[in-house]
Amino acid sequence: MTRIIEKRHALHRNLQLHKQQNNNLKLQISQLQALANIGVNTAMIAHEINNLLTPLSNYADLALLHLDDMELTKKALKKTSRNCQRASKVMQSILAVANGETEKKQVVNLAELVDEIFSCLCRDFSKDNIAVKIEIPNDLTIFAVPVPIQQVLMNLILNSRDAMMANGGILTVKAIDNGNSVEIEVADTGKGISAVNMGKIFLPFFTTKKDAEKTSGGSGLGLAFCKKAVQQHNGTISFRSDPGKATVFKIILPKLQ
Ligand SMILES: Nc1ncnc2c1ncn2[C@@H]1O[C@H](COP(=O)(O)OP(=O)(O)OP(=O)(O)O)[C@@H](O)[C@H]1O
Ligand SMILES: [Mg+2]
Repeated sequence: MTRIIEKRHALHRNLQLHKQQNNNLKLQISQLQALANIGVNTAMIAHEINNLLTPLSNYADLALLHLDDMELTKKALKKTSRNCQRASKVMQSILAVANGETEKKQVVNLAELVDEIFSCLCRDFSKDNIAVKIEIPNDLTIFAVPVPIQQVLMNLILNSRDAMMANGGILTVKAIDNGNSVEIEVADTGKGISAVNMGKIFLPFFTTKKDAEKTSGGSGLGLAFCKKAVQQHNGTISFRSDPGKATVFKIILPKLQ
């Protein structure tokens, strides 16, 4: 009888010990998860700033190369200065997105927002045989925090450009008012997304652009950022792709939130 009682006590002690170990492991996992989140968020901020720094340095180079052409130099310097101001705004806004803070939404003219993206990107799309079609009604507005949504569209546009870099194609940005929401599509006639990759593209750090391709990206953070920013607007982001032919990303943003 005493042996059975001792055995029970020993089992009980063992159980307590394992429970304690289990709790410690759970705590460690949640601390590691928090650290991993900080890492992803920091990388996302760096990624968005980099998206602006590349054209910024291109504009500065353009000015330096054509010092005798006053008009061009003036234009390039103006763009450089504007991009610097944008980079600083982006830094503040992206930090807020990464930290899960909500900035004040406002009524924003979508056509103007998209127009500004193209003036930020230094390299003309036509140089890569890409035709750009913008089909956004002039009076269409969204209710959003402008900077992150502009970065979202910039990421989608850059991905489309990368996808068409080899053979050229057509980039279409269009939007329609759906009553309670605004639907925005960024479509390209590029190489598409293979079936095996379709489930992975929104994962942080997933990229197919390492080494082999001479494209602008390669960190796999663009779409992870897009998803986070769109979700913070209570919107959705989805895509459809015809591998080898075309890809369309669709964002739905509710009008009133
Ligand atoms: N329009 C597109 N056409 C074809 N593939 C695409 C398209 N958009 C995204 N992808 C695929 O999804 C992957 C992830 O995209 P994401 O924007 O997150 O990262 P990335 O473009 O590889 O790198 P970066 O961090 O510079 O944006 C890409 O590497 C590419 O394989
Ligand atoms: Mg990208």
